[in-house]
Amino acid sequence: MKILVTGGAGFIGSNFIFYELEKHPEDSILCVDCLTYAGNLSTLEPVMEQENFSFVKMDIRDREGIFDLFEKTRPDVVVNFAAESHVDRSIENPQVFLETNIIGTSILMDAAKAYGVKRYHQVSTDEVYGDLPMDRPDLFFYEDTPLHTSSPYSSSKASADLLVMAYHRTYGLPVTISRCSNNYGPYQFPEKLIPLMIANALADKPLPVYGEGLNIRDWLYVQDHCKAIDLILRKGRVGEVYNIGGHNEMRNIDIVKLICDELGKPYDLIRHVEDRKGHDQRYAIDPGKIHKELGWLPDTKFADGIRLTIQWYLDHKDWWENIISGDYQKYYEKMYGEGGIH
Ligand SMILES: NC(=O)c1ccc[n+]([C@@H]2O[C@H](COP(=O)([O-])OP(=O)(O)OC[C@H]3O[C@@H](n4cnc5c(N)ncnc54)[C@H](O)[C@@H]3O)[C@@H](O)[C@H]2O)c1
Repeated sequence: MKILVTGGAGFIGSNFIFYELEKHPEDSILCVDCLTYAGNLSTLEPVMEQENFSFVKMDIRDREGIFDLFEKTRPDVVVNFAAESHVDRSIENPQVFLETNIIGTSILMDAAKAYGVKRYHQVSTDEVYGDLPMDRPDLFFYEDTPLHTSSPYSSSKASADLLVMAYHRTYGLPVTISRCSNNYGPYQFPEKLIPLMIANALADKPLPVYGEGLNIRDWLYVQDHCKAIDLILRKGRVGEVYNIGGHNEMRNIDIVKLICDELGKPYDLIRHVEDRKGHDQRYAIDPGKIHKELGWLPDTKFADGIRLTIQWYLDHKDWWENIISGDYQKYYEKMYGEGGIH
């Protein structure tokens, strides 16, 4: 099987490429990524020389380029990870989120349709469901929960999901969608909560926490997400949405404290900063469908996954220290003021 993976130089896409090449060495992967601030080619170095892997620097908004690539490479399957993915950035500048996450998706699907791709898989997020109240722990997101977004990011992802289902219904494109909860693990860009806290704590810098830090997220180790997507590609039913989550709800503040504990750092590094606009309260996925239909269950418990992740950041300082410089530093200071990563 020839799999075209977009956004494979980012966090989840790169982990998916490593997972697939290991699990299915008979398949080949073509990675397409335009290398935004969040894409890092050095992440893919371990597989760059592998015969069944190739990389093309291309923007999914480049219709002509994408069609040309499909003409030349004829992929069997497309997995679309490429996206602008950071909520805070979408609040600052929504435009590029609409262009990449919606228009880019439509271009990929047009090419998939024109070249008879056997499966188009859209990597989506639990954020399309909006949020749940804190005082109703009995409520969860199901695949048929209405879309009810809060941020420009989640709105762009929900729009893309609607478009994916429309291409299925209107043109018969063989699509699947997965909606996953928050991921953590190796190669996550250090603007996201867990790597940001690890990097700052290691440097004894302040740990900026939105508001009281009481917002709840459902965390999943990235490899468990990759395993779920792999299963959906091979056994999932066309035209279906699958929720992916680990039933592992944690308050942001408890994650930050746990990282402090693991690294032997004091809680007085924690700084409560002004809350994010429209901040979602609680996300909670019910992954019952993927469990029942495809037998998926997460392998990694949070207590183990967070230790693995911290150890990975300790062992790969050169990877993230390179990133925490230049333009990212300017962005960080704008968002969190003084106390940035230096
Ligand atoms: N991180 C999470 O917790 C999470 C959870 C659920 C779903 N998702 C979804 O998973 C996908 C991947 O998320 P991530 O955290 O790995 O994101 P990321 O920001 O780490 O990586 C995104 C990648 O896409 C590339 N990209 C961006 N715009 C592009 C364009 N126009 N053309 C080509 N490449 C482009 C970037 O260079 C980068 O390599 C996204 O679609 C996101 O919505 C993420």
